[in-house]
Amino acid sequence: MDRYLTFALGKGRLANKTMELFEKIGITCEEMKDKNSRKLIFVNEELKLRFFLAKGPDVPTYVEYGAADIGVVGKDTIMEENRNVYEVLDLGYGKCRMCVCGPESARKLLEHHERIRVASKYPVIAKDYFANKKHQTIDIIKLNGSVELGPLVELSDVIVDIVETGSTLRENGLEVLEEVCPLSARMIVNPVSMQMETARIKDLVERIKTVL
Ligand code: PRP
Repeated sequence: MDRYLTFALGKGRLANKTMELFEKIGITCEEMKDKNSRKLIFVNEELKLRFFLAKGPDVPTYVEYGAADIGVVGKDTIMEENRNVYEVLDLGYGKCRMCVCGPESARKLLEHHERIRVASKYPVIAKDYFANKKHQTIDIIKLNGSVELGPLVELSDVIVDIVETGSTLRENGLEVLEEVCPLSARMIVNPVSMQMETARIKDLVERIKTVL
């Protein structure tokens, strides 16, 4: 019989959406639905599948090393982590945008290519955008959350962050100044798994495509 295919799912909203999607193609994992459980790994014995939840930024790591064959994680994390994995499918949910945001007054700093301070949870994406797309020298300040505080307390001139509904920006007097790229949930695959389990993985991808 087949070996287990292992999935690493980014914890939280994305994981729930992913399990909903899998259910539509008959892949269920009942024990994963118990909200009170502290269990980390869930198994579907009939289908020979294993699932585990991980912090988003760790998902590409598990997949690169082959600890998981397949991962589901945001495009933001894939770009930031830069791991050796194949991105095989855009799942279409978790849609949002990576943007340069700040007060309206910061717009001229961007236009004049001034040396600015950029706060972000995504230093790799921010550096890449300003260096390669804008040819602008910046100072990066790495934050771990509530990045919108940066310009409010004058830690930074602008931020590079995820914008979904835009309400966090609106409620804090900030706006989108430039769009870096669109984001959504993606499926990634370990390159060796792709070779060894081509048929199973391709079949899974095709079945998911029919319900997207
Ligand atoms: C994300 C993101 C923004 C916010 C955008 O933060 O970093 O702060 O959501 O959503 P909106 O456009 O719908 O307001 P998250 O809630 O993940 O927490 P964090 O600030 O700790 O990163």
